[in-house]
Amino acid sequence: MNFRNVTTADLTDCARFFSDVFNAEPWNENWSVGSSHQRLSDCALTPNFLGMVGEDDTGIAALALGYWQRYQEEKHYYLLEFCVANERQGEGIGTLLMEALHARLQEEGVNRIYTLTARDTPAQDFYGKAGFYVSPKMILMARRY
Ligand SMILES: CC(C)(COP(=O)(O)OP(=O)(O)OC[C@H]1O[C@@H](n2cnc3c(N)ncnc32)[C@H](O)[C@@H]1OP(=O)(O)O)[C@@H](O)C(=O)NCCC(=O)NCCS
Repeated sequence: MNFRNVTTADLTDCARFFSDVFNAEPWNENWSVGSSHQRLSDCALTPNFLGMVGEDDTGIAALALGYWQRYQEEKHYYLLEFCVANERQGEGIGTLLMEALHARLQEEGVNRIYTLTARDTPAQDFYGKAGFYVSPKMILMARRY
């Protein structure tokens, strides 16, 4: 598996990949190729965007997208999207991509990573295994319109 930075030239392939993953179990979301392309393009346009793909001779197998922000003397990375191809999940590819991302972020001088995911899901188990913890100090607040 080769890991490299995402470029804008990858976005069309990544959008198809992303909608295939999140329209399937366990998320069963409702992404069209158009809406997922907009989602990923918006991520890529964020200042200090940093994304990585894992690929082999079958094509893209995993994707991580996010951006870092200055916070006082620190850099904090916000992981916006992370996924592995449906038929390749559970093979350790997500763990390898997370390690590659971690190495890349350390090169960049990032001190901390945040992500948002749904409670009590396989994704929470995955992030827990990858060293993330549920913050005892911070809460996500939301308001509906
Ligand atoms: C969640 C996801 C990124 C994990 O990547 P992966 O390559 O499948 O995970 P790995 O094979 O590297 O597994 C690493 C660990 O994560 C946990 N894990 C992974 N998939 C899991 C599942 N379906 N249920 C419970 N734990 C799981 C396990 O603890 C596993 O360790 P183990 O193999 O020692 O048991 C991947 O399954 C995925 O893309 N899922 C759909 C999209 C998604 O949920 N993205 C993240 C949230 S936005």
